[in-house]
Amino acid sequence: MAKYRIAWLPGDGVGNDVMEAARIVLESLNLDIETIHGDIGWEFWCSEGDPLPARTIELLKQTDCCLFGAITSKPKEEAEQELAPEFKSKGCVYSSPIVRLRQEFNLHTNLRPCKAYSGNPLNYRDDIDIVVFRENTEDLYSGIEFHPIPERLRTLLREEHSKMKRFDAVASEDMAMTLRLITRPASQRIIRSAFDYAKAHGYSSVTVVEKPNVLRETSGLFVREARKIAREYPEIELWETNIDAMCMWLIKNPQDYGVLVTSNMFGDIISDLSAQLVGGLGFSASGNIGDSYAVFEPTHGSAPKYAGQYKVNPIAMILTTKLMLDYLGETEAAARIENAVKIVVQEGKVRTYDMGGASSTLETAEAIRAHL
Ligand code: IPM
Ligand code: MG
Repeated sequence: MAKYRIAWLPGDGVGNDVMEAARIVLESLNLDIETIHGDIGWEFWCSEGDPLPARTIELLKQTDCCLFGAITSKPKEEAEQELAPEFKSKGCVYSSPIVRLRQEFNLHTNLRPCKAYSGNPLNYRDDIDIVVFRENTEDLYSGIEFHPIPERLRTLLREEHSKMKRFDAVASEDMAMTLRLITRPASQRIIRSAFDYAKAHGYSSVTVVEKPNVLRETSGLFVREARKIAREYPEIELWETNIDAMCMWLIKNPQDYGVLVTSNMFGDIISDLSAQLVGGLGFSASGNIGDSYAVFEPTHGSAPKYAGQYKVNPIAMILTTKLMLDYLGETEAAARIENAVKIVVQEGKVRTYDMGGASSTLETAEAIRAHL
């Protein structure tokens, strides 16, 4: 049996294109790896009523970690329309497979490095090195939502919270609600991951990004935990910034920031913002990491209009492969990938369309492979 068994989930859209690029790089590293294909994505929603079939979950359980490309998701009405006729009346509800994987495998830490590689014409500046730690399992993503709001819940909320009174005149069918659930254990875990990472990689600060002046209980809990944990790391400074101000500071002085730690929704937002500062989604890799399993995926989506055209930038996917190798302890191979990416970006001879070039996805992968 191979040393590492990796679930290989291209998904759909450009997921296939970029995973093919990742394979070119991975295979030339000569590691003892077996990849096992798994079904996931839009076509399985349409044909089976589930974009993440149970057999794929089982496959993941038999592997060391998973590499995942991209998948399409569409709003409720469109999703229902595209469902095969035999599933239309079965009450299938589309929910994002990646969010489900994060929750089902308790992949609590979403690690999103956003580093500027010099020579990239898309960089906002060349000295940016931001690493986002996003809590990955709860907050507004807990999936606890209501529309309409059940009467019993309304009554209870009215009894428990005076601010509900203001909504008395609104009918339950005219209200939707998503629960922002933040727990102490999950907050502690992500904050600790951020501090451990900062310590291991020589960052002098960790910035906690929340909104405790308004979200006094949820963001409040998160920030209070950050202050407690920060005391265990006297060599690292804790900075506190509100999410809105953080967006502004990241545009104004991104070079001042290193490790950022935040809850799920805010992390979703600032990781896209940070990615754009270093060349956009074509450069941003991510890991969903739990205690005993991890799923690695580029931050970008499936870009269906480019599917199969081998046009999109594979660097995000290739850097994602690098993160996976770090996780597996293959740090030397991981460093070789990053170094090869650095050289290709610096040289500027091979560039995909987003960087103003005309090279294909696979030509870019080949160029990176040549520098391994
Ligand atoms: C991300 C994506 C996902 C998210 C979507 C595809 C559900 O935007 O990984 O950042 O919101 O987490
Ligand atoms: Mg996102």
